Amino acid sequence: MALAVEIKESTVLVILGASGDLAKKKLFPGLFGLEKRCLLPDDLKIVGFAPDEMSYENFIDIIRKPIKLESPRFAEQLKQFCERCSYVSGHEGGDKAFEALKKRLDELLKGRKERNHLFYMALPPSVFVPMSEMLKKHCYSERGNSRIIIEKPFGHDLESSRDLQKHLEPNWREDEIFRVDHYLGKEVVNNLLVLRFGNEIFGSIWNSRHIESIQISIIEGGGAEGRGSYFNSTGVIRDVMQNHMTQILALLTMERPKSFSSDDLCDQKARLLEWIEPIEHDETIIGQYSKSEDGEKPAFKDEEDVPDDSKCATFCAAIAHIGNERWNGVPFFLKAGKALNESKTEIIVQFKQSTNVNIFNDLLPNKLTINVQPNEGVYLQINSFVPSLETKTEAINLDLTYRGREIPEAYEALLLDAMKGDYSRSVREDELDASWRIFTPLLHFLDGEESVEPRKYAYGSTGPEGLDEFISSYQQKR
Ligand code: NDP
Ligand code: BG6
Repeated sequence: MALAVEIKESTVLVILGASGDLAKKKLFPGLFGLEKRCLLPDDLKIVGFAPDEMSYENFIDIIRKPIKLESPRFAEQLKQFCERCSYVSGHEGGDKAFEALKKRLDELLKGRKERNHLFYMALPPSVFVPMSEMLKKHCYSERGNSRIIIEKPFGHDLESSRDLQKHLEPNWREDEIFRVDHYLGKEVVNNLLVLRFGNEIFGSIWNSRHIESIQISIIEGGGAEGRGSYFNSTGVIRDVMQNHMTQILALLTMERPKSFSSDDLCDQKARLLEWIEPIEHDETIIGQYSKSEDGEKPAFKDEEDVPDDSKCATFCAAIAHIGNERWNGVPFFLKAGKALNESKTEIIVQFKQSTNVNIFNDLLPNKLTINVQPNEGVYLQINSFVPSLETKTEAINLDLTYRGREIPEAYEALLLDAMKGDYSRSVREDELDASWRIFTPLLHFLDGEESVEPRKYAYGSTGPEGLDEFISSYQQKR
């Protein structure tokens, strides 16, 4: 929900970790996307910073490589974009590296009254704290704004997340830290607010009186290819459930914010998350993928640096409960996994059966399906007469697809927010704390000695056996 603020004049954006995967695949292409939309002010400068000694030309090659120019007009814009960019090598390490960065900031902002510095930490989490200390010591602007942008993981449980926060606090105020969750930059996730609060028809039925259950799935067809070591220490719960999925859940269920200002939005999300009870292990199905049935695709344990006795969860289905008046009694089915039969992020809001079920035959409960990706769209299943001479009904879809509409990349939206200083899509400290509180007991159980073996499922299948029974047995309990 971008506010009507603009990127300040005299701003330099520094990408720390400019030679890394995130910078190459997402940040530079995202920034070029903003260039193409003419959303970057003329005087905005971008500095890449990394340990490599690299020429300007090699750095520009990194930027250009993933960019596909769909029209000749964009070639001119790419040239303009590259002219904004320069590179500083941090190969000398320590203070010297940051003195070199400071020197570049001074050159770029020479003669400016105001100086605004923005630092994107596209770095391994282990160096977030020392690097942020160095930035404060050498590169903090005394005559303008300085902000850091950080990426998940924000810790690996509640305690370590608080610890990270405690180490950032002496140098960076909460309003100087932008925490990225790239799902908050996705178009359909943003649209949840308009869908819920901009449409009278949904406002009055968005509660346990009318909604039977809600299901949120983030499933992926690919496995942990090449990221075995990272994934083995992370698992699917930390990788996508504690962050991306929890943010979707909060936007879907929070009360209406007073306004769409960042404070009001984050207040409501944090309040909602406080109502979610920590997830119990006996309300989950934990799985790990084995080889595909044809033996072509590897098991998780075949990945490099994954030990044979790994109990890492590459799949998790869980039931969450929200204890407030609006949602009491509604089960929230959360499902995430790698190496499944398809890739999609989807929300299904299952409404209760109509009380008129006895009048018509074949009535199905209404269902709202929100496709976050791919094939972005919103579908409402309603009952309708079949055009015939009989009194027959069928379920049809009211279809609101995004087909043919141009959808900005999530990183474009979030980079623009961060540069503008709009925090409405940044994850606030209290939200982060509340989301770790929901998952930490389960994570500690799974990491502990008493933990269970994950259920096996074949690469490319729908997940571990017993999933449907698990969900339906839960529905029967109600
Ligand atoms: P990479 O390992 O690919 O890149 C890290 C970058 O940081 C490289 O430029 C690296 O330089 C530099 N670097 C490494 N160690 C140091 C150090 N001690 N001092 C200074 N610079 C250092 O990581 P990613 O780009 O994949 O990830 C960056 C961050 O973004 C991580 O926190 C990750 O969790 C997060 N993230 C990444 C996503 C992705 O799609 N890649 C998605 C979501 C979050 P060099 O190569 O020379 O060592
Ligand atoms: C990242 C996870 O945060 O999100 C990845 O680390 C995951 O493992 C990715 O694949 C999913 O994001 P998207 O935008 O591709 O759905």
